[in-house]
Order: sequence, then C-alpha cells, then structure tokens
Amino acid sequence: MIKFTLDGKEFEVTKGTTILEVARGAGIKIPTLCYHEEMSPYGSCRLCLVEVIKRGWPSIQPACLYPAQEGIEVMTDSERVRKNRKILLELYLARSPDSEAIRELAREYGVRDTRFKLKETSNCILCGLCVRACEEISGRRAISFAHRGSKRAIQTPFGELAELCVGCKACAYVCPTRAIEIEEAD
Ligand code: FES
Repeated sequence: MIKFTLDGKEFEVTKGTTILEVARGAGIKIPTLCYHEEMSPYGSCRLCLVEVIKRGWPSIQPACLYPAQEGIEVMTDSERVRKNRKILLELYLARSPDSEAIRELAREYGVRDTRFKLKETSNCILCGLCVRACEEISGRRAISFAHRGSKRAIQTPFGELAELCVGCKACAYVCPTRAIEIEEAD
C-alpha cells in the first residue's frame, strides 16, 4: 500500500492508483476533458494538472496519468494549478469558442476572454477520446488522428465513409465538447 497526502488529507491506496482515481473516490473535483473511466488514459487535454511535491521538489503533473507514490504531497487546486488551468482554458476558448462545455469550464475558472486568436476554430479539441472509444469499446478503427500541427484532425480513413463503422455512436457519446454529430442515414 502507498501512503500520500492529497489536499492535506492522508490516503492509503494500492500501487498504480492514479491521483485522479483517488480524488474522484474522495469527492475532490479535478476537471478533465480527455479522461473517461472506461478507457485508457491518454493525457492530452492537460486540464487535470495537479501540483505534486516529491522529496521537496514541486512539479505539475497530469492527475489522470500520475500514480500515487509514497510520501508525495498533492494539491489539486493550488494557485499554480489554477494559473495553469486558466491559461489552458484560454487556449481552449480560442479553439472552441462555441463549445458550451469549454465555456462552462472557463466561467468556473473566471476566464471570460482569451488573448489567443486562431484562424480556424473547431469544437473538436483533439482529445482523442472518440478514437479510443472506437478502438476500445467497439474494437474498430473507423476514426483516427490525421495530419500534423495546425492541420491535425480526427478523420475516417481517407476522409471517406468508414466501412469499419458499425454506427455504435460511442464516439459521439464520449466526446466532451459535443463535436461529433450523428446523422441518421436515409
Ligand atoms: S484528463 Fe488528464 S490530461 Fe486530460
């Protein structure tokens, strides 16, 4: 068993348990966008960042990937954490200004506007949850990441209607920003 401190309280958990799992179990709220408990963590949205003090050294770590370790001290809502989350939310606001989920999170953190300007906006934040849902829930690969840099996107193979898609809608169901809309075929 591993003993550590989370927001000033002592916890004892089994090896491999992540900070996010402990926090959720204890009713401590950590915001997430790319995490789903039914799927493997991916660590792309960085919104779950927490401050970890290990042997006196502070660092910022993603709670969804970081396992509890003996003697560490974790803060889920320190000034440094909030500052990081605010910057991230400004970036997400610039990318997805129409996403209600992003706007709500931004409001929660007192972020009203963004200093970042992007030429193209999209409700898709490229968290990859839909890709993992397709692979891990449906056992398919009907969608995946395509391209690099600013052109990075989620696509079906070659942008065509994916034959591998069985219409399970798992991708739309898990999307945190409702970027995927399902159209029923005629
Ligand atoms: S929830 Fe941890 S990085 Fe997205």
